[in-house]
Amino acid sequence: MAAASFLLLTIILASTTSATSSSVAIKASRTSNGGCIPAERAALLSFKAGITGDPDNRLASWQQGAHDCCRWSGVTCSHRTGHVVKLDLHQDIPMVYYLSDDDPENHSLRGQLSPSLLALTRLKYLDLSQNYLLGDAKAMPGFLGSIKSLTYLNLSNTDFHGLVPPQLGNLSNLVQLDIQGNIFGGYQYSKDISWLTRLRSLEHLNMGSVGLPEVVDWVHMVGALPNLVVLILFQCGLTNSNVPSSFVHHNLTLLEVIDLTGNQFSSPDTPNWLWNVTSLRSLRLVECGLSGTFANKLGNLTLLENFAFGFNNVDGMIPRALQNMCHLRSLDLSFNNISMDIKEVIDSIPKCSWKNLQQLILESANIIGTTLQFVSNLTSLNMLEVSHNQLSGSVPVEIVRLQI
Ligand SMILES: *[C@@H]1O[C@H](CO)[C@@H](O)[C@H](O)[C@H]1NC(C)=O
Ligand SMILES: *[C@@H]1O[C@H](CO)[C@@H](O)[C@H](O)[C@H]1NC(C)=O
Ligand SMILES: *[C@@H]1O[C@H](CO)[C@@H](O)[C@H](O)[C@H]1NC(C)=O
Ligand SMILES: *[C@@H]1O[C@H](CO)[C@@H](O)[C@H](O)[C@H]1NC(C)=O
Ligand SMILES: *[C@@H]1O[C@H](CO)[C@@H](O)[C@H](O)[C@H]1NC(C)=O
Ligand SMILES: *[C@@H]1O[C@H](CO)[C@@H](O)[C@H](O)[C@H]1NC(C)=O
Ligand SMILES: *[C@@H]1O[C@H](CO)[C@@H](O)[C@H](O)[C@H]1NC(C)=O
Ligand SMILES: *[C@@H]1O[C@H](CO)[C@@H](O)[C@H](O)[C@H]1NC(C)=O
Repeated sequence: MAAASFLLLTIILASTTSATSSSVAIKASRTSNGGCIPAERAALLSFKAGITGDPDNRLASWQQGAHDCCRWSGVTCSHRTGHVVKLDLHQDIPMVYYLSDDDPENHSLRGQLSPSLLALTRLKYLDLSQNYLLGDAKAMPGFLGSIKSLTYLNLSNTDFHGLVPPQLGNLSNLVQLDIQGNIFGGYQYSKDISWLTRLRSLEHLNMGSVGLPEVVDWVHMVGALPNLVVLILFQCGLTNSNVPSSFVHHNLTLLEVIDLTGNQFSSPDTPNWLWNVTSLRSLRLVECGLSGTFANKLGNLTLLENFAFGFNNVDGMIPRALQNMCHLRSLDLSFNNISMDIKEVIDSIPKCSWKNLQQLILESANIIGTTLQFVSNLTSLNMLEVSHNQLSGSVPVEIVRLQI
């Protein structure tokens, strides 16, 4: 299912791109170059000169002789001005790579990121994700902070090492910033993220796998971003020492998604500021070292649709913790000591959510019971994971419906 929608998305994106470039108006002043501005064409060729490896020939159309750079793969120009507004050279990682011996790294662009990009003065969208333009320094270059027109910057999984350049704080038009590090490496870090507070338009922030263990005031920093909708800070080395003990006033009234997976908070009340971000729809606190009884603070998160709380050290669950959640679609409490009967677990999910819940993941959660009959009350359920518990008795006929 996920693969099918991904494919569909790719097709839609591909057709949008070709429609845009084929309809670029050829204006008299730019006739010889099609829709392309000569200085920008030179900048793109200079960028290409920094690429030492292009195993899949993705830049094959970028040629000296090919004058209309607006038709080069990955390049989009504005119909109106002819300026390059979008450079999308991200590498797709099809499932087929994972199913064979092939390695996605074999398909990445390699080389170095050329400052010639600064000549693209109207560039709004830059996606170089999954490529390895590391140069000799391997550090993310600070000049990126001077491409002031950017609203979208994606350097996810680019394997940069070292300090995240604070110059990114100069990109004041940025709406989406994704600098997620290598999930196996975590080579990048930041000791001070105050530069973030200057990104007043930011809606989407992904700094997953960027080391932030020394950043003491990250809650205040992200709390100052009034337009933030998505906050992804998994595996950042955050601990209780980074979280203020008193309540934090914040401006996060639009925040819908938080992912703090893989940080070690070790207390049920942490991070306390979370519990009144009442706009939340998705909360991932997987493997956060949270312990004690199940957080009873969840009560005000009435819009929550996805709650992932697996791999913590919770003992027991306060039955009313979920009582106000009428929009639950996915609940993951696996690898905790929930220590309840399956009937009680389902009763703790409010009836108004029974028709919405699609995924219930309770693997290794010390769930007992002699029948799964109650599960048939959850009429939208398409994934039930209850292995490694103490359940016995027959599987109801209705479970057949759960096949995806
Ligand atoms: C891809 O890379 C791996 C090592 O990472 C190598 O063993 C393999 O031969 C490469 N495959 C191709 C098709 O180049
Ligand atoms: C950035 O690129 C990665 C990989 O191509 C993609 O999965 C991710 O959704 C992108 N981030 C944003 C904010 O679009
Ligand atoms: C960009 O950011 C850096 C570091 O935050 C700062 O020192 C520099 O003055 C900024 N440059 C411009 C042009 O704003
Ligand atoms: C919230 O926004 C207001 C108005 O823009 C600002 O004065 C205040 O400092 C912000 N609060 C925080 C915690 O950033
Ligand atoms: C969170 O609670 C504090 C204290 O009650 C309040 O000042 C603040 O406005 C609340 N924030 C949100 C987003 O509800
Ligand atoms: C939930 O909201 C109520 C009413 O606004 C407030 O009194 C209570 O403190 C909130 N609980 C938490 C855990 O924020
Ligand atoms: C799980 O919780 C129950 C009841 O709270 C307790 O008796 C039991 O010892 C716990 N099991 C583990 C492995 O912690
Ligand atoms: C839930 O399922 C059980 C067993 O199938 C059934 O007896 C019970 O009436 C159902 N409850 C509701 C509220 O539908």
